[in-house]
Amino acid sequence: MAKSGVAILGIYAADLQFTAKRQPVMGETILGSKFGLGPGGKGSNQSVAAARAGAKVTFISRVGKDTFGDAALAMYAKEGITARIPQDEHHATGAAYIFLEEGTGGNAIIVVPGAAGQVGLADVEANRDVITSSAVFMVQLETPVETALAGLKLAKGAGVTTIFNPAPAAKLGDEIYRYSDYCTPNESEAAALTGVAVTDIASARKAADVLLSKGVGTALITLGAQGSLLHGQGISVHIPIFSAGKVVDTTGAGDAFNGGFAAALARGAGAEEAARFGAAVAGISVTRYGTAPSMPYLHEVEALLKGA
Ligand code: RIB
Repeated sequence: MAKSGVAILGIYAADLQFTAKRQPVMGETILGSKFGLGPGGKGSNQSVAAARAGAKVTFISRVGKDTFGDAALAMYAKEGITARIPQDEHHATGAAYIFLEEGTGGNAIIVVPGAAGQVGLADVEANRDVITSSAVFMVQLETPVETALAGLKLAKGAGVTTIFNPAPAAKLGDEIYRYSDYCTPNESEAAALTGVAVTDIASARKAADVLLSKGVGTALITLGAQGSLLHGQGISVHIPIFSAGKVVDTTGAGDAFNGGFAAALARGAGAEEAARFGAAVAGISVTRYGTAPSMPYLHEVEALLKGA
């Protein structure tokens, strides 16, 4: 049977976003200017981005049997995402503290995966059918590394296109890279994984070469306002950003990019076209507040690409 759709394994977290001029130092209290509570978690955000971009999406995770967990499941139903997500009675749903810098849209995050931190090999096995029958399978590093590795291994062995989004960066053995058709770190993650200080496209190319030498098929490194670099065997292209208006919140921009990239690959786009599509998804998301709620719909992305 032909493979189709996108399967994503990762976490859901309730995002608590605080906007202020700066972060407090230890022992200090400061007044902020804005607060938002909404759905987050990298894998979950990527699922929303891919679904709104037109892909058939299955999200594999765990949430708690609590209010945040109920809200997550209600969101997947509304977004048309198939949720393979048991509710865990013993662990609470994950949550994230997000500091949003007033004026710049820059962010800093502490995430506690909660119930999704328990996503393990049994969850990969229980979802073997969907992982092996999808066109694209994607993981991040908010679940345990062994779980991400097991998912990538299973998918790659079944001929599924795999995307490894190593966020947040972690200490890794080289094995995981061999199962990654695409590896998609941002500049700081690429630096942490390769030891190359990534500050521009030229240094990103050096880091990408290190990832290729570890076994990655193609590296796709995002560099914020500098765009991204798609670098693999016989291809090295700089993809510029798409500007869709004033940048207010960069939180989740990487998830928007990855979700859009995965959706485009799943419908048969080549890597370069898919990366441009991901860049357009991210370009719109940063003009809106929040993470999952900021993801654009397919018609908005198409309009931006058409006008470019
Ligand atoms: O990439 C942004 C996401 O990282 C947030 O939604 C937060 O929950 C953390 O997982």
